[in-house]
Amino acid sequence: MAFCRKAHYVYSGRLPSLERKLTTTPTFFKSQNMQDEKKELERKNAAAEAVKHIKDNDIVGLGTGSTAKYAIEQIAGLVQQGLKIKGVPTSEKSSALATQLGIELIDINDVEAIDVTIDGADEFTSSRELIKGGGGALFREKIVASLSRKEIIIADSGKYVNKLGKFKVPVEVVPLAFNYVQKELAKHGGMGQLREMEHVPFITDNGNYVIDADFGLIADPAELSRTLNQIDGILAHGLFINLATLVIMGDGTSVQVFE
Ligand code: 5RP
Repeated sequence: MAFCRKAHYVYSGRLPSLERKLTTTPTFFKSQNMQDEKKELERKNAAAEAVKHIKDNDIVGLGTGSTAKYAIEQIAGLVQQGLKIKGVPTSEKSSALATQLGIELIDINDVEAIDVTIDGADEFTSSRELIKGGGGALFREKIVASLSRKEIIIADSGKYVNKLGKFKVPVEVVPLAFNYVQKELAKHGGMGQLREMEHVPFITDNGNYVIDADFGLIADPAELSRTLNQIDGILAHGLFINLATLVIMGDGTSVQVFE
C-alpha cells in the first residue's frame, strides 16, 4: 500500500517541487513500516531464543505460520552446521519448507515423543493459554503439542492479550457436520463463519473446513475448550490450554519468557 501511494505521487508529477516533497514516504506509512520491522525483529529474536532449547539428536516439532517459519529457517542453519535432529512437521507447508531447507523429517507415528516443538500463536495470555489455527493447521499442531515434552510458543508482542477472544477461535470441522456444528457453536455463544479463501471454502491438510467462531472475550477458556471438545463433528479447536511449556515473546530488541 505504501508503495502504491508513493508511486501515485511520483507519476502525478506536474509540479516538480511538490513532487519532490511527496516522493518521500508519508509519515503514516513510515511508521507502519517501522511497526512491521519491529514485529519481524521480535519474531526472529523469539525464534533465536527458542532454538537454543534444541539439543543434538532431538526430535523437533516444526510449527506453522510466518513466525514458526523463522524457527524452521534457524533450525536449518544449525543442521547445516552439524546439528543432528529429526523434524515432525505440523502442516504440509512446513513439511515442504523443512525438506527444501535440508531438515530430515520423521513420521509422527514413528516417534514415541517429541523433545521440543517450536510453534507460533494468534493470541496468548501470561498463563500461556493460546488461540492457534490462524493458518488452519490447528489439528496437527495440537497433536504435535500433545506429544511434546517441551512446547515452545514464539510470538511478537502484538500477540499478547489479557483475555483471549479478540481473535476468533478456529474450529476444524468435518464438512458433513458443518451445519450441525455451526448451530451448536451458536448455542454456546459462538457466532461461526466458514473460512474462505478466494471465495471458496478453505480446506485443511486433513480435508476439512474451518469455522472461525466469535465468542467475544472468553471468561473461562478452559471451560470453553471442554465444551467444544464435546461437540461431535469438531476435529479440533484452536484453544490450547495447558499445552505450552514456554511462551517466548519478542519485546522490542529483547525477549520476554512466560513460563
Ligand atoms: C497456524 C497457527 C500459527 O502458529 C498462528 O496462526 C500464528 O501465525 P503467524 O506466526 O503467521 O502469525 O496456529 O495454524
